Amino acid sequence: MIIMTYYMDVYGCQMNVHDSEIIAGILEADGFTNVDNPGSADVILLVSCAVREHAETRVLGRASQLGGLWQNRKQGEPLIVLCGCVAQEHGQDLLDRFQNLDLVVGPDCYRDLPLLIRNSTRQALVEFRKGDYTGIDPLRKRFPGAFVTIMRGCNNFCSYCIVPYVRGRERSRSGDSIIKEIRDLSEKGYREITLLGQNVNSYRELDTSFPELLDMASDAAGSAWIRFVTSHPRDFNRETVEVMVSKDNICNHLHLPVQSGSDGILQRMNRGYTIADYREKIRMLRDSIPEIVLTTDIITGFPGESLDDFQRTVSLLDEIRYDNAFLFKYSERTGTSAYDLADVIPEHVRLERLNYLQEFQRGITLEKSGELRNRILNVLVTGSAKKPDQQAARTRGNRMVILQGTDYEPGTFVDVRITRADGWTHFGEPVGVEDI
Ligand code: 5AD
Ligand code: SF4
Repeated sequence: MIIMTYYMDVYGCQMNVHDSEIIAGILEADGFTNVDNPGSADVILLVSCAVREHAETRVLGRASQLGGLWQNRKQGEPLIVLCGCVAQEHGQDLLDRFQNLDLVVGPDCYRDLPLLIRNSTRQALVEFRKGDYTGIDPLRKRFPGAFVTIMRGCNNFCSYCIVPYVRGRERSRSGDSIIKEIRDLSEKGYREITLLGQNVNSYRELDTSFPELLDMASDAAGSAWIRFVTSHPRDFNRETVEVMVSKDNICNHLHLPVQSGSDGILQRMNRGYTIADYREKIRMLRDSIPEIVLTTDIITGFPGESLDDFQRTVSLLDEIRYDNAFLFKYSERTGTSAYDLADVIPEHVRLERLNYLQEFQRGITLEKSGELRNRILNVLVTGSAKKPDQQAARTRGNRMVILQGTDYEPGTFVDVRITRADGWTHFGEPVGVEDI
């Protein structure tokens, strides 16, 4: 077998990050080896994200730039492969538009990558397939953290979202294979296991629902922490909260994207809940887990968003007081139903609203992280920080903590006193190591 080297860039969400670990697992099982420099690779893979136009433009820019590195490149030297959601979205069109691209491979077709690369025929392979990647050993790169995919695809068709078109319909993975993977990870020393899916709360395999899977996952994880993303407010339920309460190793963090504070906009977004429903779920959650760390996603400037609608979003942030929020300005995606909606909000208004909300939320984030000053929290040391004399860690609530010193092996749980916070990043001094 000829050994080939590969270089990979990844864009987008955690699902894509984990897919890139699956791709690496598939390639290395077939004799490929990884290199850090695109200039010395036989194959360059770009794992793309299509959720907003900006992400799409970036990856295509990168493909052109990489192609430009080899001005007189003969075909296949090196091979440039576009994977991920942009590949699925545009398929063959990309080969017609970008002479530098050799292969376009969608998220369900990664098992075919070694063959496609070795054949090196210019083509797009973007079929939807029923199966998942069970049986592949992903090459994980985030020790002591590990992602485990529990479902792929989405059936919700929120009107702004391209995901159902590029990731296909919802498919839940077998509970047995998920639990086995978690048990293996825990035995290998992984200490933070994140269950991944576009809409984890609608997981269902045979008779197993998400709360039941979560309960089993918690047992299989042993002393490792369990997290899960992403939850949909319509499907997140009391049973899930009950499991979170009953298990010590399930993290007290919930990412519950609300998208807008206005019922009218939520309806146009096809989200399937009202603000009253959402508020009620948050109340139930906070009653049961007062220390819960809550984060959300918001879109500004969705078609038809009036000033009143926007103010309702501001009021909601003020009321809920999220620990952190990921804020985006609306981006039109071809093929989604919102693409055809009237009352388009001008780009500068989307941006103004985004900036306003960012400033508003920053105050809340700072206030909430400031409340942690002098508190002692148990954190998981995850690895090195930017500065060589510091280490990075995470709280159960998913807050980032920077520790002075380099005393701990990644994967160690340590009690730290929080000294100060800058937004979502906190600084802490170790006060001891937990015996696990
Ligand atoms: N424009 C802007 N933001 C979007 N998101 C999804 N689709 C779009 C879009 N077309 C945001 C949502 C989602 C997050 C992952 O990305 O807030 O929760
Ligand atoms: Fe997109 Fe909505 Fe599915 Fe999330 S739940 S991936 S926003 S369609």
